[in-house]
Order: sequence, then structure tokens, then C-alpha cells
Amino acid sequence: MANIKQIGKKQACVIGGSGFIASLLIKQLLQKGYAVNTTVRDLGSINKIAHLLVLKNLGELKIFRADLTVEGDFEAPISGCELVFQFATPMNFGSEDPENDMIKPAISGVLNVLKTCAQTKEVKRVILTSSTDAVTINQLNGKGHVMDESNWTDVEYLTTAKPHGWGYPASKTLAEKAAWKFAEENHIDLITVIPSLTAGPSITADIPFSVVLAASLMKGNDFYIKSLREMQLLSGSISITHVEDICRAHIFVAEKESASGRYIVCAHNTSVPELAKFLSERYPRYEIPTEFHDIPSKAKLVISSEKLIKEGFSFKYGIEEIINHSVEYLRSEGALLN
Ligand SMILES: NC(=O)c1ccc[n+]([C@@H]2O[C@H](COP(=O)([O-])OP(=O)(O)OC[C@H]3O[C@@H](n4cnc5c(N)ncnc54)[C@H](OP(=O)(O)O)[C@@H]3O)[C@@H](O)[C@H]2O)c1
Ligand SMILES: *[C@@H]1O[C@H](CO)[C@@H](O)[C@H](O)[C@H]1NC(C)=O
Ligand SMILES: *[C@@H]1O[C@H](CO)[C@@H](O)[C@H](O)[C@H]1NC(C)=O
Ligand SMILES: *[C@@H]1O[C@H](CO)[C@@H](O)[C@H](O)[C@H]1NC(C)=O
Ligand SMILES: *[C@@H]1O[C@H](CO)[C@@H](O)[C@H](O)[C@H]1NC(C)=O
Repeated sequence: MANIKQIGKKQACVIGGSGFIASLLIKQLLQKGYAVNTTVRDLGSINKIAHLLVLKNLGELKIFRADLTVEGDFEAPISGCELVFQFATPMNFGSEDPENDMIKPAISGVLNVLKTCAQTKEVKRVILTSSTDAVTINQLNGKGHVMDESNWTDVEYLTTAKPHGWGYPASKTLAEKAAWKFAEENHIDLITVIPSLTAGPSITADIPFSVVLAASLMKGNDFYIKSLREMQLLSGSISITHVEDICRAHIFVAEKESASGRYIVCAHNTSVPELAKFLSERYPRYEIPTEFHDIPSKAKLVISSEKLIKEGFSFKYGIEEIINHSVEYLRSEGALLN
């Protein structure tokens, strides 16, 4: 009788379930009583799936092997699911050929997933995880710009000027745009969730890149501090959100009948110098650098989550908790001195 589904049990599919945000989303879905199918690229990688196997204790979770670039891979995991959450995206940050290593597979991967969604009669809504990198990057000068869901990153600028780190934001912007076009042509109820830099504790085996980046000023690692500075220079601000709120927002828009379009999820707008000042006051023991000559002390822009808040969502965590929870987590992993 193993095939009889529990009556009324909601079914969700999470594409790219091994990752930082997606694995916590799976945990929240199981805790809410959803049955979940998820996909990973390599079922043999204990490092990437051990934390998912543990989640099976919380409810009905099936793990499938699937690759974004392989047509048909998503048919089995998506079948029977009302909600599909699409997180997977190529993250080859160091690539010298972003066009082929990130942009093309991000676009074709999203279309591959959406195609299967269009063919699966049970699918009611698809939630795609985009990024504020698909919203804020442009050549504007000045400061005090307010960015919302109507704004799109200037891909023309990224692909012609090729500023350092241009490949990832170009891939996220073009993948989201391709998703909207496909969804409109194929009558898919698509929603995109647009997280800012995401921090907080992770259940994954490896410490996520974005948490290390957010805590770089405390870790004193020059490579990551440089990345954080480049982030402000390219994207216009350091905007940051707790991973738990990012996941709660995904479920909120998935379940909310009236939700539609894009939703920015950003709990706090800041800049590298402001963040450094904030951290050095609270964590004097980490010798946080506070002199930054080459970077504006005030962010060029702020990112508004007003649309999400008007829809009825409230953030659980502000900057204090985002930082404290990240510090506690990194200390417990031995990645930050006590
Ligand atoms: N973390 C942030 O600060 C942040 C901010 C804004 C937006 N986002 C977006 O949120 C999503 C999740 O990010 P994350 O930080 O949680 O990343 P993550 O931990 O690095 O997870 C990335 C996921 O993508 C999967 N993936 C990569 N290439 C794939 C392919 N060819 N086929 C199938 N799966 C593939 C990986 O699967 P494997 O296990 O198979 O490698 C992994 O599960 C991404 O779409 C990202 O752009 C993240
Ligand atoms: C998961 O995948 C299986 C196999 O394709 C399918 O029968 C089932 O309905 C899917 N949904 C869930 C949430 O189990
Ligand atoms: C954001 O988009 C709106 C609407 O298209 C536009 O009027 C505004 O100038 C854009 N803002 C920025 C800072 O690019
Ligand atoms: C970020 O800035 C926007 C626009 O001023 C504001 O609506 C939002 O509340 C700010 N977010 C936070 C909490 O810093
Ligand atoms: C965060 O940690 C700091 C320093 O340990 C402490 O003073 C503060 O009360 C904590 N804030 C919250 C909201 O937990």
C-alpha cells in the first residue's frame, strides 16, 4: 500500500535541494506537513546529501538524481506535485568562460524545469529563486536610489563592460527573464523570489559561500573582504537577510493565492563601512577593519521589500539576529574564533 498518498497531504518538489537555502526550505516544508520530492546532481555524494537523509525523520521526503542540463530528468520528481521550487543554478564563480559555464546552462536549465512543469497537470505554481543581482546592477551615479520589483539589472552593461564578477548576475537576470517569457507563453503560474545576500545558520555539511562573505569582516580573510567590497561596488549596496526568512518568504508566496510577479526579500540595507562599524561595536575581539577609502560609506541604493510586506509577510529577523546567528553558527563549526 506504499503508493497510497495521505489524503490532503500537499506535495512539493524542490529542485537543487542540497544547497544552503533549499535544504532549509525542505525542512520547513516537511515541518508544515508537505510531502517533498527533491533533486540533487549526485546521489553518491554523501557530503551533499547526508543532511537531506537526516530530514527524512521529519516527514515524507524522496531524493532524485537530476541535472539541469539533461532533458527529462525532472519528470519523475515533479510528477504529482502542486508546487515546484526551482533553486538550482550553476555557480562557477571562478570560470573564465561565464557564457558557457554559467549563463547558457542557467537559462537552458530553468527552461528545462519549466517545460516539465508545463507538461505536468498537477503543477499549480512554480516558484523560481532569482537574486537581487537581477535587479540592482546599473551604471547610475548618485545615491539614495530605491530599487523595487520594476527594476532590472542592466545586462547590456554587464556583457559589454564585463566588470569583475559579471557572469553570475548576467546568468541570474537572463534566466529570470527567460522564465517569465516561457511562463507567459505557456500559461504557467510563475512567481520569482528575489533574495539579497543570505546569511544565518546552515544545515549543509559545507559552510555556504554567502555566510562566509557576510562574516568576512570578522574572519579577517582578505579574499572574502575584497569580494564583499566588490559586491557593494557592483551591486550598489550590502543588503542582507536571514536564511530562515528567505525560506519563509518562499512558502508564503507559494501558498498565498493572490501573490503574483516578482518579490524582493531583503531585511536590511547597508554598506561595507556601515556594516564594519556595526560589527566592531558589537564584536571588538575580531579587530574589524573600519577604514575604507575606496568605497562609499553610504550605499548607492536601497532595496525595497514593500511589495512582500504589503502582501502580509513579516520579517522575523533584523541585522542583529542575522549577525548573531551567523557568528554562533561559524563558531560552532570552528570557522570563527570563540
Ligand atoms: N545565498 C545567497 O546569498 C543567495 C542570494 C540570492 C539568490 N540566491 C539564489 O538562491 C539559490 C540557492 O543558492 P544557495 O546559496 O543556497 O546555493 P548553493 O548552496 O550553492 O546551492 C546551489 C545549488 O544549485 C545546484 N546546481 C548547480 N548546478 C547545477 C546543475 N547543473 N544541475 C542541477 N543542480 C545544480 C547545486 O546542486 P549540487 O548539489 O548538485 O551541486 C546546489 O544544490 C540560487 O538560485 C542562488 O542564485 C542565493
Ligand atoms: C514524487 O515522485 C514520485 C515518483 O515520480 C511520484 O509518484 C510522487 O507523486 C511525487 N510526489 C511526492 C511529493 O512524493
Ligand atoms: C526603477 O524602475 C522604475 C520603473 O521602470 C524607473 O522609473 C526607475 O528609474 C528605476 N530606478 C532605477 C534606480 O533604475
Ligand atoms: C531598505 O530600504 C527601503 C527603501 O527605503 C525600505 O523600504 C526598507 O524598509 C529598507 N529595509 C531595511 C529594513 O533596511
Ligand atoms: C547579539 O550579540 C551581541 C553581542 O554578543 C549582544 O550584545 C546582543 O544583545 C545580541 N542581540 C540579539 C538580538 O540577540
